[in-house]
Amino acid sequence: MNKLRAAITCVGGYLPETKLTNQDLEKMVDTTDEWITTRSGIKERRILKTPGAASSDMAAPAIEEILRKKNISPLEIDCIICATVTPDMIFPATANIISDKIGAKNAFGFDLEAACSGFLYALTVGAGLIESGRYKKIIVVGVDKMSSIIDYTDRTTCIIFGDGAGAVLLEADTNGNGLIDAVLKSDGSGRYHLHMKAGGSLNPPTHETINNKEHFVYQEGKYVFKYAVTGMADVSQELMEKNNLTGDDIDWLAPHQANLRIIEATRERIGIPKEKVMINIHKYGNTTAATIPLCLWEWENRLKVGDNIILAAFGGGFTWGAAYLKWAYDANFQTK
Ligand code: UT7
Repeated sequence: MNKLRAAITCVGGYLPETKLTNQDLEKMVDTTDEWITTRSGIKERRILKTPGAASSDMAAPAIEEILRKKNISPLEIDCIICATVTPDMIFPATANIISDKIGAKNAFGFDLEAACSGFLYALTVGAGLIESGRYKKIIVVGVDKMSSIIDYTDRTTCIIFGDGAGAVLLEADTNGNGLIDAVLKSDGSGRYHLHMKAGGSLNPPTHETINNKEHFVYQEGKYVFKYAVTGMADVSQELMEKNNLTGDDIDWLAPHQANLRIIEATRERIGIPKEKVMINIHKYGNTTAATIPLCLWEWENRLKVGDNIILAAFGGGFTWGAAYLKWAYDANFQTK
């Protein structure tokens, strides 16, 4: 018998219906479709407009899709790990709210905050729980309602982000597939360049923080771009060298969707052709913790048992990392 590993055995996703296109943004701020497309690769993004709806309302249907496709009861879920920077509330954890909404009464759960690398971090933690042998079914969900922390008068950030959720089910695999390795990194000195200034214990909300627009994403785009381009490519290459992989061995790259130019730099560095890269940034923009699972969701029916997949991300923190998966199933789920 092969080593027990944690494998993704199903993927679910949720995207709100409302589209915010580059043409819409042209009417809101001083920008053009041409600028946004050439600088970022984004054409449109989805926005959660439903009154009273929060991140948990996107995560819940993404997980329910998994339950439906796998025909399992929510009571079978052992744990929900929710990666997000836009929790429903500061506390309790959005994972707890999701458990309540889907009826996962036997699950414990917690949120994990690692910005755009959140899904990779959560996947690694969830895999550890499976590998311990103590838990059978772990849900890892990446979800962000970025529209709740974006200033739609700031052209440098409002063009980038969108809302969405992607979830995976992790189960044990003894056939040689699953999460083989991951390299995760962080450098907190990057916090000055990408953060939300107020709302935490450093600067609790006041009338002044609201007037100063300190509850929105603050990003020094050019600076973050420089680190993202090298960070995501370097860590992917490091992971591949560690596992004796070359570009020829890789079937798919599932990169964080922050900027098409960052994705392209990673693709070039690891030496794989364009058709092996999962890209949906043009449709959904940067959904922070949801980008990678939304790629897996969209590509699920094309993935085959034993496919070598590299996941890679870079984001606020700074946090960054890459994971190496051997895909564990051929999907024949009909419901999408
Ligand atoms: O996912 C989490 C991690 N985040 C990232 O990885 C994002 C990394 N950064 C980026 O993706 C890019 O930096 C952006 C897409 C945010 C911006 O692209 P850029 O090529 O770095 O542009 P820039 O910030 O250097 O701005 C170039 C020019 C500036 O004008 P000047 O100073 O050259 O006159 C900006 O004021 O473009 C101007 N500009 C815009 N023009 C039209 C900035 N935003 C816009 C806009 N429309 N929306």
